[in-house]
Order: sequence, then structure tokens, then C-alpha cells
Amino acid sequence: MANIGQYLLKEVFTPAKPARVSFINRNKINKRVVRALETPGMQIVVYGHTGSGKTTLLENKLYEVYDKHIRTNCMIGSTFEQIILDAFEQLAEFYVDEVINNKKTKISSSLKINYLAIKASLGVGIEEVKGVKQKRILPPQLSPQNLGRLMGAAGYCWVLEDFHKVNEEDKIKLSQLMKVFMDMSDEYSDLKIIALGAVNTAREVVKSDGEMRRRLSEIKVPLMHDSEIKEILTKGENSLNVIFGTELKEKIAHYCNGLPAIAHKLAYLMCDGAAIRETLHKSQSYDFTESDLVLAVQEYIEEESDTIKHVFDNALTHNKGENTIRALFYTGQDCGNIDELFGYCKEFNIRIQKKPFRSYSRRAIFV
Ligand SMILES: Nc1ncnc2c1ncn2[C@@H]1O[C@H](COP(=O)(O)OP(=O)(O)O)[C@@H](O)[C@H]1O
Ligand SMILES: [Mg+2]
Repeated sequence: MANIGQYLLKEVFTPAKPARVSFINRNKINKRVVRALETPGMQIVVYGHTGSGKTTLLENKLYEVYDKHIRTNCMIGSTFEQIILDAFEQLAEFYVDEVINNKKTKISSSLKINYLAIKASLGVGIEEVKGVKQKRILPPQLSPQNLGRLMGAAGYCWVLEDFHKVNEEDKIKLSQLMKVFMDMSDEYSDLKIIALGAVNTAREVVKSDGEMRRRLSEIKVPLMHDSEIKEILTKGENSLNVIFGTELKEKIAHYCNGLPAIAHKLAYLMCDGAAIRETLHKSQSYDFTESDLVLAVQEYIEEESDTIKHVFDNALTHNKGENTIRALFYTGQDCGNIDELFGYCKEFNIRIQKKPFRSYSRRAIFV
């Protein structure tokens, strides 16, 4: 296939960023997301394993429906008040800088006054006392209804990233905020919160209010199939004019265990190792060999040893140990042997019991 353009390696393989050039459409899920985005009043929870592709999916699909959106990154300990303030501050783009989108060409002057009044009531303090910002009490004018009005009239939707990191009490308040937004959808049909979070987030949101169930779209983003991982690699091949080939693509997919970030990282390291930093010229295609992959895996393990230890711990506690272990090893065989595994565990201070590991066929237990 002919090259479709000239790209940098870092634009094609993006282990730590949402993919664009190598973005693959996961048809069923993507359609569900777009449909939910288009349904007035429908609030959305997108959930799934970390790294399954939630953020990437939204990044690539949101623009089909919304011109503008607000994005709030929730962190461990983020409070409801901080989250509200973050959204409010981002709306300054519309109400203060008067950046307008295609759909909404007018800024209501009464809402602008409303916005500025709230801003003034927040005072100069915000920047000055950053350290204690979390203690801040919201001014009464910054009620959920008022935020909804300001956001709705601006035609923005609101993406809450990593919703699962918010603690229980604040999560309940956020789910109530979702309900307020639902109820305002007659007036502002675009008003919407899209919460992205790890598994179980959806249930946590709805459990506080059964009535919400009907107007909440819960969309699961599962880990990727091998065929999807291979599709990412094929997109990369076409974009950079390199060849991984069927066999190496199979192997990479096998090591990924459904996590596209690993495919991006291994492919990136393979290209980097072969000094490929951008799309190769038509006459210069590069055909990767097994040794390129071996080197990439070694580099990967060295770079990520701490992360791997963490993933390893997690995976084993969740009874999926055999897959992770396979990903940790690349010895030219289909899987590593048990002594190598124990060598690795010793090196990285991972304490495991030997017996349950036999043949990687059963679950593993930490001591
Ligand atoms: N549909 C996709 N096509 C190509 N790469 C993807 C796709 N979805 C995710 N990725 C890649 O997988 C990694 C993790 O994706 P991300 O969206 O951050 O996951 P999550 O938000 O679920 O934790 C990123 O490196 C991203 O580039
Ligand atoms: Mg994410």
C-alpha cells in the first residue's frame, strides 16, 4: 500500500498518548459512543481496564459531535469542589476570551455577566492560595444548575478523565450533578458529562440513583483482540513504510495481552532501534526481523521494570498471572521457564510461591 503521508515515528506509535495516525476504529464501541453523544440528555460513562483505549476513543470521536469540550483530569483526592471549579475556569475561554464555536455564534450577555460575577466572587484568592484551594467552598452562585446553564449555553460537553480516582463521597456528588444535567436537557440538549473510568465505575455512579439508569449510557471498552493490535501495527507499517510482517505482528500481539500501549511501545522501540524516526522513502522500506523484536523487548523490560513489577503484582492478585508472565519473557520460546521466572522475581524482589505457578496453568498467590 502506498504511503498516505509523511509522519514522525512519535506521531505514529504513541505509547503514552492517544493514537491518531495509528488509531483503529473499533466499530461497535465507536458507534455506541457516537450515538450516546448524539442523544440529548444522555449522560455517558465509558469504563474499562486502564490502557484499554478509553481516552483515545473519546479523543478521536468527540469532534464528530462536539466542536468544543472541557476536559477535567481527576486525580486521587480530587474533590467535587475542585472539579466544579476546574470546569468553571475552563469556561473562561468562552465567556471571557469569547472564543466561539461553529454552532453557538452568540454569547448571551446575561450569562456573561453571570459568569463574571461568579468569577469575581471567587476573588483574587484562587491563584494566591493554590495550596489550600481544595478547602475552598464554592460560592452559592456556582451551583450545579448554574454551571449547567453556563456550559449548556456555550455548547460544550464535559469529559471527566479517570473518574474512578475520585473518592466515594465526591463521586456521589458528581453523579448528582449528572442528574441535574440530565434534567436540564430540555433547555440545553448538548449538555452532557462523559465520565471515563476503570471497571465498576458505572455501577458506582448509578447505584446512588436508580432513576438515572435509563438516561445513562454505560459503554465498556474491552481490552483489544489480537486482530485489533495487529491492525494498529499494520497502520504503523503503512504510515512509516516499514514491514513487521505477519509473524512478528502475531508475536507482538501475543505479548500485549490486549493492551495497545505495549504494542505502541514495542513498535516504537523496534523502529527507534533501527534508526527509523520518520516515514521512510518509497525506495527504502525496512523489513524487521526477530532480533529487532528481541532487542525491543529487552529495552522495554529495562525501561519499565518498576511498572512491570506493579503490573505483575496486580495481574497476579487478579488471577491473570499466566498471561502477564508470558509478556515478561521473551526468550525465543513461546514462554519462559519457571526458573527464569523465579530468577526475575528474585531480581525485582517479587515474592511468590513456587507451587501455584507450575506450568503457568493455574492462578498464583503472593505470600
Ligand atoms: N483505537 C486505538 N487505536 C490505536 N491505538 C490505541 C487505540 N486505543 C488506544 N490506543 C493506544 O493505547 C494506549 C492506551 O490508550 P488510552 O486511551 O490512554 O487508554 P485508557 O484511557 O483506557 O487508559 C495509548 O498508547 C493509545 O495510543
Ligand atoms: Mg485514560
